[in-house]
Amino acid sequence: MPRRFAEISFTPSVKATQSHYGSREANLGFEQADDPKNILSERERQFIVARDGFYQATVGENGWPYVQFRGGAPGFLKVLDEQTLGYADFRGNLQYLSIGNLKTNPHISLILMDYANRRRLKIWAQASVIDVQDDPELIARLASPGYQADVERAIILKVEAYDWNCPRHITPRYTETEINERILSPLMARLAALEQENQMLKTASLSPVRQE
Ligand SMILES: Cc1cc2nc3c(=O)[nH]c(=O)nc-3n(C[C@H](O)[C@H](O)[C@H](O)COP(=O)(O)O)c2cc1C
Repeated sequence: MPRRFAEISFTPSVKATQSHYGSREANLGFEQADDPKNILSERERQFIVARDGFYQATVGENGWPYVQFRGGAPGFLKVLDEQTLGYADFRGNLQYLSIGNLKTNPHISLILMDYANRRRLKIWAQASVIDVQDDPELIARLASPGYQADVERAIILKVEAYDWNCPRHITPRYTETEINERILSPLMARLAALEQENQMLKTASLSPVRQE
């Protein structure tokens, strides 16, 4: 059984190119894998709900790909079941490029980055667009309480395939929260301990020398 991502993306032209550059044999492994990797396991689900953004590609009816960033509160991309994701789409610059593209072609690709840990996950899916007035309950389920944004619609993604990339060439980057957790908190704790020690040493050095 082939990896689902290879079934989707190893087009005749891609296979011919693999042959041209001598990697066709190596890539056959993806087409003979035991696990098609189209059902999200616990590992992918945990990774997805920890993200605060992702890059999303759609295709216009003229064949041009279009990539846009979607961001929100951590966990705004929700796992509805092991093959379904959903997110609340916010009001933006009113160009509606992604939504317009999805009207003629539901194919969508996401790339989810974890810069701090140098991990990334690619997802292929079929998207459907549901306007707020058509399913307010779904919108309520997808919204992030307290996050400042006007929700215009829900995007539901039926996952067809996923694939993890290797960490090469991902430069580690840290969010403000990650900097606080990983760097500033331990530094502040160390600083506080040193201040306390310094104070004790000062107090001891200022105490009168005991006369025997
Ligand atoms: C007032 C406003 C202006 C924006 N201007 C831009 C812009 O010039 N370029 C851009 O890439 N995103 C801009 N954005 C963000 C996009 O509107 C947002 O990412 C939206 O989801 C884009 O969706 P689309 O590209 O799929 O149509 C703007 C958002 C707002 C609220």
